[in-house]
Amino acid sequence: MRQNIFEKIDRGERLARDEIVALLNLADAAEREALYQKAYAIKRQRVGTTVYFRGIIEFSNYCVKDCFYCGIRKSNPHVERYQMTLDEIVNVALWAHQRQYGSIVLQSGERSDPAFADFIEQALLRIRDGSGGELGITLSLGEQSDETYQRWFDAGAHRYLLRIETSNPELYAKLHPADHSFERRRACLDSLRQIGYQVGTGVMIGLPFQTTEHLADDILFFQQQDIDMIGMGPYLPHHDTPLAAHVAAAPDFEERQLAAGLNMIAVARIVLQDVNIAATTALQALRHNGRELGLLAGANIIMPNLTDTQYRAAYQLYQNKPCLDENATMCQACLEGRIALIGETVGYGKRGDSPHFAARS
Ligand code: 5AD
Ligand code: FES
Repeated sequence: MRQNIFEKIDRGERLARDEIVALLNLADAAEREALYQKAYAIKRQRVGTTVYFRGIIEFSNYCVKDCFYCGIRKSNPHVERYQMTLDEIVNVALWAHQRQYGSIVLQSGERSDPAFADFIEQALLRIRDGSGGELGITLSLGEQSDETYQRWFDAGAHRYLLRIETSNPELYAKLHPADHSFERRRACLDSLRQIGYQVGTGVMIGLPFQTTEHLADDILFFQQQDIDMIGMGPYLPHHDTPLAAHVAAAPDFEERQLAAGLNMIAVARIVLQDVNIAATTALQALRHNGRELGLLAGANIIMPNLTDTQYRAAYQLYQNKPCLDENATMCQACLEGRIALIGETVGYGKRGDSPHFAARS
């Protein structure tokens, strides 16, 4: 079966759902390596081997949501909450611009009060002015009203990341409290697209209750939604969350989560072809070179952490988050070395929009 599927990929034919499932299920080391090589060849051809940096600023961990998997959920009393000031955020963003980062990502826990919308608008306007409009700005701030999305777009944000977390409504309901709505989240993706953002979404991989069929449907969901960028990574339990109790202890848990994450990147590259795909930090939490493995499996984006070291420990969505004691300069140097080691280069000074977005706009 595998050989047939690989031949179909070589002929550029569309894969059926059961073929996607079969690829995601590959467990043998040599077969997985062959899958990653297929994906890498498509990456080289469709998006190239330049890695684009999106420096991420995790500027606050206040959150009104209560997702069962997330370490900064509002009901976790063990988190020390913080919020960077406007000046701090703008300074970090402009540091990234001086350092030739093409883009930054502003991420935080979710808030939907009017003061928050104003605060972000101010930050966007100041970053746009300070960088002469050059710095690409991605937002990752959760579900908001259409009006807020529009205001932020008008103030200079042009990409938005909103992970659907899973495209299966029943699974979604198991991972979230009853007042968190799958349909509302899906509708947000539509609004973002209509407003004109480059839209990114993604899922967690290897969740309790999740099957390979769910993951295959996630990839088909990205395709149906005509998504421009994918940010997805392995689920990692956090001990202060309700979902962690559903994780069965297994000695090879980390190896399996890593393999599932890499398989998902490779199959997403094969099916979606010209989108941007991030090698996320969760991969590095499982293995020191996890993100490089992500690049070799088909990803082309890395999100170096720009958050001040003093805040990093308080922004742990999952346990064993890497780089807690490092700072932005250290992470940049480290990543440059890692990327050079696999024979790729960093696309400094370029925004690195996904060819998929360019083709649809
Ligand atoms: N493991 C892996 N990823 C997580 N996220 C939140 N909690 C976890 C976890 N325990 C991811 C979600 C969210 C993104 C910002 O972080 O997918 O959208
Ligand atoms: Fe932070 Fe390597 S990326 S130290």
